[in-house]
Amino acid sequence: MKKTYVVEGNQKLEGSIPIQGSKNAALAIIVASILCKEKVILKNVPRIKDIQQLLKILRYLHCEIHSNQKELIIDSTNIQYENLQIDEIKSYRASYYFIGAFLSLFGRVEIYQPGGCKIGKRPIDQHIKGLTSLNVNVCLNHDQLMANSSSIEGGEINLDIASVGATINLILASIFAKNKVIINNAAKEPEVVDFVCFLKKMGAKIVGEGSDTIVIMPCEHLHGVKYEIMPDRIVTGTYMIYGVALAKKIKLTNIRSKDNYALINTLINMGVQMDIREDSITIYESNSLIKSHIITGPYPAFPSDLQQVISVLFLQLEGVSIIEETLFENRFTHLQELKKMNAKFFLFIDKALLLKSNFVPATVSAHDLRGGAALLLAALIANGTSIIQNVEYIERGYEDIVRDLNRVGARIHIDEYEEA
Ligand code: EPU
Repeated sequence: MKKTYVVEGNQKLEGSIPIQGSKNAALAIIVASILCKEKVILKNVPRIKDIQQLLKILRYLHCEIHSNQKELIIDSTNIQYENLQIDEIKSYRASYYFIGAFLSLFGRVEIYQPGGCKIGKRPIDQHIKGLTSLNVNVCLNHDQLMANSSSIEGGEINLDIASVGATINLILASIFAKNKVIINNAAKEPEVVDFVCFLKKMGAKIVGEGSDTIVIMPCEHLHGVKYEIMPDRIVTGTYMIYGVALAKKIKLTNIRSKDNYALINTLINMGVQMDIREDSITIYESNSLIKSHIITGPYPAFPSDLQQVISVLFLQLEGVSIIEETLFENRFTHLQELKKMNAKFFLFIDKALLLKSNFVPATVSAHDLRGGAALLLAALIANGTSIIQNVEYIERGYEDIVRDLNRVGARIHIDEYEEA
């Protein structure tokens, strides 16, 4: 079945939205859970497509999975080595975490290269560089990767880029190393910190998470735990931006405000009225907002994942707002779609100049997750009925964006039809 969203725009939003657990932390934590031969109980796991694909892979590996409304229980007591050249690996980005986990568990892995949103080249050279520093043999053949190591002794890894994925993968590979592993230029994103907190709760000995250098000390065994995954800071940020564009008053709950510092700072400078608490933010209707200039970058800079959504807000402001994208080469495709809605902008390779535009309703297609969320915001602003196609992209990361928004006054209808 294919789905489209039929969006009746120009409705004011008012109410409260509880925020789901973090996709990117959950994707790493669930893979880490297979390193322990006891039950792991996870709370706040988002119910999204990428997690469903990951759980399919765990079942294929003979892990037992149980879930109810509140918890996901993973029991990897009977996990077995399997060849990971299977379609599910290609269906989402973070499937490459099985490289690190399998090296720790079995000393070898045969896997497809990952899929995910096409927002740039997204090479995995830093993962491979790090594994090589740990004396792992890695062989790449088109879309296949084979790696093995008789034993991970330890060592020092100097990443050229503070990659989230490489940092997590290399920690997974280093958990049972004989000697300490040092990762220099590690990623500092909150999801990396949450993943390390989970590992530490299972008994791993790690220091430095959230800083440039992470040190993993030798550890022989991990034990089962109960753990609550952090709130999703990108979903929080998305709904904050929706709130600024559309709300009379929107309260976001179950959040961690400090993770969204860069966005909060940008919105304050634009003149947005907010009530910021540790675990909730209320956004009030703002009349005249000031144009802005953001430069995306690794945490704590402005997140690339919110650049596309905020571009739609910038298209509502007087003057020229600027976005510089420094992380991914191909993260402006949503702007081409927005042309159909009368968006006015100038696009350079890594920079967009955005001018005030009167959106008209149109049929537009999502090309990636956050770009899809940007198109949905434009449709909610336009006066009339718009159609968003390829919403499967949006549902990779947002648990139920239609439910959340309709509860606070949006009018979005889901059309389902058989694929031709
Ligand atoms: N990079 C390399 N070589 C590598 C790894 C990364 O050149 O070996 C480059 C990438 O091409 C990119 C930059 O380094 O230009 C940063 O990439 P990073 O590895 O940090 O990103 P990622 O791990 O692929 C995660 C999130 C993304 C988020 C980025 C940045 C997951 C599953 N994905 O991707 O989330 O944009 O970090 O914060 O954790 C999303 O949720 O929509 C999403 C794309």
